[in-house]
Amino acid sequence: MICKATPENIVRAAELLDSGELVAFPTETVYGLGAVAFNESACNQIFKVKGRPFFDPLIVHIASFDELSEVANWESDQNTRENVIKLQTFWPGPLTLILPKTDKVPGIVTAGKPSVAVRIPSHPIALSLLQTLKRPVAAPSANPFSYVSPTTAKHVDDLIGSKIAMVLDGGPTQFGIESTILSLLGDAPEILRPGVITHEQLSQIISNLQAHKTRPVPTLNPAAPGMLEMHYAPRTKMIFFEDYRPQASQGKIGYIAFKSPATIDSRFSPVSILSKDGDLAEVAHKLFAAIREQDSLDLDLIVIDSCSEAGVGVAIMDRLRKAVAR
Ligand code: TXA
Ligand code: MG
Repeated sequence: MICKATPENIVRAAELLDSGELVAFPTETVYGLGAVAFNESACNQIFKVKGRPFFDPLIVHIASFDELSEVANWESDQNTRENVIKLQTFWPGPLTLILPKTDKVPGIVTAGKPSVAVRIPSHPIALSLLQTLKRPVAAPSANPFSYVSPTTAKHVDDLIGSKIAMVLDGGPTQFGIESTILSLLGDAPEILRPGVITHEQLSQIISNLQAHKTRPVPTLNPAAPGMLEMHYAPRTKMIFFEDYRPQASQGKIGYIAFKSPATIDSRFSPVSILSKDGDLAEVAHKLFAAIREQDSLDLDLIVIDSCSEAGVGVAIMDRLRKAVAR
């Protein structure tokens, strides 16, 4: 059930979570599907609802820096400690850190790994929910496994609404692309998933940063399964514009443009223009909604633009390469 995120409904959502139910809520990136992180059976339910394999661990959301020690042993060595302190500048915000986990975090949340993914979201509704509940919330994106992440309450409701207690509606999410995942486990910090916080921004704060590697990854138990090919994929076949070759009888073809094209090929209908002047933040904000929209139209093919891989363009292209891999 979709509920407007009024103060009363946020309290209700916290009560539902507290009693072991699942609640979807907005974050500044995408909507999350939450359960109390210390409640094993509720977390188990997240995997069931999403159809998510148990080897794919969840992100734990906390309300404030004070809660970090409850879930992560972030002071275990000096290098990690110093990096976490520097990276606090991005919290609350779309940066997820991989750190050694504490014993309190159940194995189901971390897929049996000794590490935990953790972030403080900046969305006021997410923060308010976490502050009311006073406990960490494990929340992956609130979509069926391998489908496009939800950026509105309706996206959540359409596909998993009937299986969960509540969808808190906070309107469309701001960034529209998932958080950056940064591992602090190895000798050098490494980006495991590019996101809203860019490599450029991170490298101004910490030294020795390893870029996200686009090398092929193993299909079982990779470091971050979000790296799996075929993630974020619509059901309709999707290809990049540069790979499109007009042929007879291609059926109905939708086109998702990043900026207003000079001319539009008459074979394309509908055409979704994400940003008049190709602003990549705006593209990211609207991207998943446009893919879902066109995926619901019974098209035979979706043709989509690509962008240069700088700034948030790295994250956009990371998602799109996986989306066209189906
Ligand atoms: O923006 C976001 O990060 C959203 C919102 C809801 O916070 N969440 C999200 O969660 O995108 P999800 O489950 O769709 O993606 C979490 C990613 C997965 O690729 C998972 O493999 C990785 O985080 N992850 C979680 N724990 C990890 C760990 N201990 N080591 C490495 N990767 C981990
Ligand atoms: Mg996801």
